Amino acid sequence: MCGIIARIGHGDAAETLLSGLENLEYRGYDSAGIAVQNGSGVKVHKCSGEVSDLKSTLSGRPNGNMGIGHTRWSTHGPPTDENAHPHTDTVGDVAVVHNGVIDNYDELRTELKAKGHEFESDTDTEVIPHLIDEYRETTGDTELAVRRAVETLEGSYAIAAIVDGEEAVYAARKGSPLVLGLDDEEWFLASDVPAFLDHTDEVIYLEDGDLVVLEPDSYRISDLEGTPVERAVDTVDWDPEDAGKGEYDHYMLKEINSQPTALSNTIEGRIEDGEVAFEELPAGSFADVETVQFVACGTSYHAAMYSGQLLRAAGIPTEVLRASEYEATSGPVDENTLVVAVTQSGETADTLDAVRTATARGARSLAVTNVVGSTAAREADDAIYIRAGPEVGVAATKTYSSQAVTLALLTQRLAADVPTATPADDRDAMLETLADLPEHVETVLETTTAEQLAEETLDSTSYFFIGSRLGHSVALEGALKFKEITYEHAEGFASGELKHGPLALVTDETPVIAVLTGSGVEKTKTNAIEANSRGAPIIAVGPDDNPLADVADAKLSVPETHPVWAGLLANVQLQLLSYHAADLLERPIDKPRNLAKSVTVE
Ligand code: F6R
Repeated sequence: MCGIIARIGHGDAAETLLSGLENLEYRGYDSAGIAVQNGSGVKVHKCSGEVSDLKSTLSGRPNGNMGIGHTRWSTHGPPTDENAHPHTDTVGDVAVVHNGVIDNYDELRTELKAKGHEFESDTDTEVIPHLIDEYRETTGDTELAVRRAVETLEGSYAIAAIVDGEEAVYAARKGSPLVLGLDDEEWFLASDVPAFLDHTDEVIYLEDGDLVVLEPDSYRISDLEGTPVERAVDTVDWDPEDAGKGEYDHYMLKEINSQPTALSNTIEGRIEDGEVAFEELPAGSFADVETVQFVACGTSYHAAMYSGQLLRAAGIPTEVLRASEYEATSGPVDENTLVVAVTQSGETADTLDAVRTATARGARSLAVTNVVGSTAAREADDAIYIRAGPEVGVAATKTYSSQAVTLALLTQRLAADVPTATPADDRDAMLETLADLPEHVETVLETTTAEQLAEETLDSTSYFFIGSRLGHSVALEGALKFKEITYEHAEGFASGELKHGPLALVTDETPVIAVLTGSGVEKTKTNAIEANSRGAPIIAVGPDDNPLADVADAKLSVPETHPVWAGLLANVQLQLLSYHAADLLERPIDKPRNLAKSVTVE
């Protein structure tokens, strides 16, 4: 978790650091800080709270052409002013920001204290500036001191450091993301591209073991032995506007509304002559695959569930596993097992760990991700990008839709490549109707009654989301989104499970939101009616002629289309229901409490 940024160049750094941090707040938002220096001491400004709180504590902008910044999601120590980054050594001439977890910080702290270093926070990070300071004393060379310091660390880190009196930013990474941004007159380092997208789209994705030194007019990258390394410069094709909120009150609403565009990008060029075409993986790429395992967390897990069913229907043995439980729940794997890591950020620790476990056991890996250059994309044998554009709201919306579509296409590629598979009878209809999906989403966005419904049901005690088959994963996703941003109790169930326990909770204050798309709708109808006869209001989410049309208390309509895409339209309605309920409840929609977008701890 946490977002870091660094900037060096001509002119003041503080404004750029602060606006960069705002674009990184999706990574954590419980404290924030910057440190700048201009040759007359390192100045640290930090506090608990959001970047806006930090800004309000600054009287004027601190001077300095280079600096580092941090926005935190606490792991070690509560979100207090002292625990906010940057951290410094005892005299305050080395300042460090860090994303990751230092496993051996306790023993390092004890050793450093014995040498006279004084600590002020509860964090694991604070050992790093002290280590750099210690090695500067012994080597007289800051670059070497940073190298020695990171060699001493166990765990994961992306760090950036500035040192009093030196025209340089030092940085290193292992296990946490770090991207170098190259502009004409300034260099940036950040956990993610949106931090500096307003300034440049030229980037270098740093690798584990890289150490970087930025000076006002040059940069150099070396490995931990000090040998220079070459890294390719990439151009990011995200529009700076994608990283802003535009005319919307919340990123989440903007991202829900941008789904037609995101989906058009996801689909573009991926169906050619009636066949699924991934430029990354030409036809035949999966000919050796015998079994498939999806590994993912949260919303990405729900997208994986969706396509897992499509793959099983094509006769390919498929498991959909929660990444955090992979080690214990995975059956045997071998080189004919394709492990598909579904991860928007490409940085989720549980998912990366599952892929590493699977790879160590001999499986082949494929990352399906939104973030080019992410750890999942780099570590997996292959990567497919969902092309949704940057998603800033903590609750995943457009990336779920783009993931589900990319994975549905992947299942068709697999069904064509794997010799034992039998492509679905309606495969051609499914691929042909995909082109209409962005327009159908547009229709949902224009005609939705979700806001009114959110108002009508706002005083409910619980919200139950039910669905069968593909609708089951939509129901689970609907409930996750609802509880995540409204803080109201919401649960998702396979329709048939309602009567095996949850029905005991049903009253006239527990709306049952029934997903009525795809096959399985008759089962959902029966189970919804069972709940309705115990008093629960029914909200039918599906086409207007759905089987509950005559009994439902309210409806959220989706246009008629292929059943595989209809579930995704139902999901858009549920996103809107959650959004409007959370808005009416005045929740901090883009930054729900206790959460962060990129969960880089296990
Ligand atoms: C919920 C949400 C999370 C993520 C999960 C995995 O709205 O966004 O449940 O889906 O943390 O994240 P990624 O996809 O980045 O691996």
